[in-house]
Amino acid sequence: MNASFITFEGIDGAGKSTHLPDVAHRLRAGGAEVLVTREPGGTPLAEQLRSLLLGTVMDPLTEALLVFAGRRDHVQQVIAPALAQGRTVLCDRFTDASVAYQGGGRGLSLDVLNALENWVHPGLQPDLTFWFDLPAEVAAQRRLGARAPDRFEQLDTEFFSRVRAAYAQRAHDAPQRFVRIDASAPVTDVRRQIQQALEARGW
Ligand code: TMP
Repeated sequence: MNASFITFEGIDGAGKSTHLPDVAHRLRAGGAEVLVTREPGGTPLAEQLRSLLLGTVMDPLTEALLVFAGRRDHVQQVIAPALAQGRTVLCDRFTDASVAYQGGGRGLSLDVLNALENWVHPGLQPDLTFWFDLPAEVAAQRRLGARAPDRFEQLDTEFFSRVRAAYAQRAHDAPQRFVRIDASAPVTDVRRQIQQALEARGW
């Protein structure tokens, strides 16, 4: 095993949350002590911030500050202690989502986001990031008929195309960390892609 902090990323409707429990199950079966968590959220304070973020209109910088405030609490209270205990942390979204949504989607300066990242979790990066990639139009189709959309899920395909492009740039900048999953493939094929990536890393 050569990674202990694993994140799951992608635009809304990419299907990451469907596959995260499978990965947890697989790693536990292999003997790992696994903690599953999510962002925004993961602590009582950060879950309160999540409710505000998903339900209240605010400007992009306010949005980023709230996301990173929750992240600070989450890293301090949950992620860093779990990693220090040798546990494997599976996190549904992390800072790549801020760069993609607040940066790519909302147009917030990457300098601001990079500064927040360095401030809030200096030296901490995921060891492995599964990026569930698919066209914004396909994701929008998948979201139809799902639960009532939150403030982000209501945004148009242009927004999600920008988010997707920002993920692509982030993946390009950190190729050793990112694994691109073709999330437009059928579920069984997506599962196989994840399995191959885990096997390639010694799981
Ligand atoms: P979820 O539906 O995957 O739980 O994520 C909730 C929403 O929060 C999703 O639309 C993406 C958004 N989000 C951001 O805008 N910035 C962030 O940093 C994170 C973690 C999530």
